Amino acid sequence: MASAGDPFTHHALGPGLLAGARVVLLQLPKSLAELTEIAEQVAAHAADDVTLLAGGRVKHMTLAMNDVLASCFTLVQASRARQKSRLLVARGPRPPAAFSYPVTGEVSAPELAGPAGRETLTVVGHGAAFAGATLDVGTRFLLAQSARWPALTDPAVVDLGCGTGILATVAALRYPGARVVATDRSAAAVASAAATAAANGADVVVLRDDAGSTLPDASADLVLCNPPFHDRTALSTDAAHLMFATAGRVLREGGELWTVFNTPLRYRPALERLVGPTEHVAQNPKFTVTRSIRPSE
Ligand SMILES: C[S@@+](CC[C@H](N)C(=O)[O-])C[C@H]1O[C@@H](n2cnc3c(N)ncnc32)[C@H](O)[C@@H]1O
Repeated sequence: MASAGDPFTHHALGPGLLAGARVVLLQLPKSLAELTEIAEQVAAHAADDVTLLAGGRVKHMTLAMNDVLASCFTLVQASRARQKSRLLVARGPRPPAAFSYPVTGEVSAPELAGPAGRETLTVVGHGAAFAGATLDVGTRFLLAQSARWPALTDPAVVDLGCGTGILATVAALRYPGARVVATDRSAAAVASAAATAAANGADVVVLRDDAGSTLPDASADLVLCNPPFHDRTALSTDAAHLMFATAGRVLREGGELWTVFNTPLRYRPALERLVGPTEHVAQNPKFTVTRSIRPSE
C-alpha cells in the first residue's frame, strides 16, 4: 500500500512483497523464528535467481543463522567482516514443502478464565511476533488482575503494542459490545493479532502504526499495554514512554491505562506525568501492574 508522496509501497511478508524479486536486502533479525519465516517466504516467492543479502553485527550473528538459510537455499556464504558487520549471502532458493509459520497453539491459563470466560485461547503467531503462540509471563500477570479492571458497558478499548493480540482478544470477550482496537508497529504482530482474534471469534480492529500514533484523541475508555523493553537487539524504554504518552492522549477523562512492566523499570513517575494518578495494583520482584487514570481537565 502506498501513501501520498511516499516513494515506497508497503506489503506484508508474502508473494505481494516478494514475487519476482531478484535481490532481497535483510537486516538479520535476532530471532531464528523470524529469520526462518522470512527465508521460507523468499525461497517460495522470489525469482529463481534471487540473491538474499542478510547483514548483521558480527556479535549478534550465530552459526544457527547459516543453518536456517541453508535449509532454504542451496548456497550460503559469509562475507568477510567489515566494521564489525558481516553479510550472509544466500542463492538457489529451495521452496519449503510447508511453511513453518504462522504457528497456531492453544494457550491455557487459569488467569484467562476471569476476563475471557474460558481458560483456553487459540493464539496465532508469525515468526517475528512476541512470545509466539504462548502466553508471556508479564501478560499473564496483567490478566491475573482483571477482576479489578473497570466495569464498563460497550467501551472503547485499545491494546497498545498488541503482539499476537491476546490482550485485545481477551478484552473483546470480557466486554461484549466493546469496540476493541489493537495496534503494533510490527507487520508480523498485526497479522498475528488479526488471526488470533478471528480464531477466538473476537471482534477486534487491528492497525499497524508507531505507538498508537494514528488513534484519535480522547477516544478510549480503557487502554491495556504490555510495553516493549527492547528495540531489536538493544534494551530501550523509548517505545514504552511513547505508548504511555499515547495512552494519556487517547484516554477520555476518567479512562484507565492498565500496564505491566519489569519492576526494576520503575515507570510510575512517567505514568503519573504522561497519563495521571497511578496506583500499584500488584507487584512481585519481577513484574508490576499499574492502573493510571486520566484526570479531568
Ligand atoms: C512486550 S510485547 C507485548 C505483546 C502483547 N501485548 C502481549 O502482551 O503478548 C510489546 C509489543 O510492542 C510492539 N512494539 C515495539 N515498539 C513499538 C512501537 N514503537 N509502536 C508499536 N508497537 C511497538 C512489539 O512489536 C511487541 O509486539
